[in-house]
Amino acid sequence: MTLPTSVRIVEVGPRDGLQNESAPVSTAVKIRLIEDLASAGLSEIEAGAFVSPKWVPQMADSEAVLAGLTRDPKKRYPVLVPNLQGLEAALAAGAREVAVFAAASETFSRKNTNCSIAESIERFRPVMDRARSAGVPVRGYVSCVLGCPYEGEIAPKAVANVAKSLMDIGCREISLGDTIGVGTPLATQRMIGAVAEHVPIPQLAAHFHDTYGQALANLLAALEMGIAVIDSSVAGLGGCPYAKGATGNVATEDVVFMLNGMEIATGIDLGQLAAAGWRVLDHIGRVPASGVSRALWRKTQK
Ligand code: HMG
Ligand code: MG
Repeated sequence: MTLPTSVRIVEVGPRDGLQNESAPVSTAVKIRLIEDLASAGLSEIEAGAFVSPKWVPQMADSEAVLAGLTRDPKKRYPVLVPNLQGLEAALAAGAREVAVFAAASETFSRKNTNCSIAESIERFRPVMDRARSAGVPVRGYVSCVLGCPYEGEIAPKAVANVAKSLMDIGCREISLGDTIGVGTPLATQRMIGAVAEHVPIPQLAAHFHDTYGQALANLLAALEMGIAVIDSSVAGLGGCPYAKGATGNVATEDVVFMLNGMEIATGIDLGQLAAAGWRVLDHIGRVPASGVSRALWRKTQK
């Protein structure tokens, strides 16, 4: 079993997490969260989404978030863009990295972005051209890689086709999203195997939601296949507004604890990370979904 010696964690809590919160979260709280995460050692923090505010009102203040953020020049703060309009707004707000998102399921593609998979790729072409001329790298997401809330099972080949299309139009990295957290380890490895026929493993990221409690097991399966980029969300915040019942991403605290135990470097301070999670959830009125974070907190109560 060959495992990577270090893993790059892409923190998606401020975007994937907060996009799914029904309680209002102020711009100031979002900015504080992003800055706390940077202080905890996260090097790449998804800071918002320039999507339609009618579709996802929680992300409507992304411009204000970028404007108010004290950015560490050594860190990356990508944002989601669904189309050229979103990219122009993101660039005007000072974004230096963006991500586009497609799906491996036709029904999910329509529900999430109001177009077919093929139309979404066509929609991204001018986004890629404009991003290239602005010198802005683009990440590509594929949703529903291990199952769809509307269509059920998704064939690995369907995932591979979308991942290939995103690479062909110029994405620098493909993040494979188990949007509804239904994957299990062998299915994960079969899916990654199919995608790896078209996209080199170093350009793949694992983006697993923990709805069925399988995310860490699936991440281990992905690590065994050489994947060394993991998306996760502080305190397990998150979900997708167009995948009913999908809960948060795997918690960053849980991933870091597992990787620490495996002597895989992340550069993240677990204590500071957990504190960032407790602070934001204090505003929301919940405790972290992360078992690691709750266990660390209990230790401080003795
Ligand atoms: P549409 O309604 O078909 O868009 O939505 P349209 O082009 O027909 O425009 C309609 C209106 O939207 C117009 O305004 C546009 O200006 C406006 P009106 O004239 O009616 O006042 N509009 C915009 N406004 C702001 N920013 C924009 C924008 N574009 C159009 N960028 C659209 C199509 C793609 C825009 C919409 O479906 C959308 O915004 N979807 C985003 C849904 C979303 O954000 N989902 C969550 C993120 S994906 C995710 O969570 C999965 C992931 O985590 C991976 C995983 O877990 O699998 C990434
Ligand atoms: Mg997600």
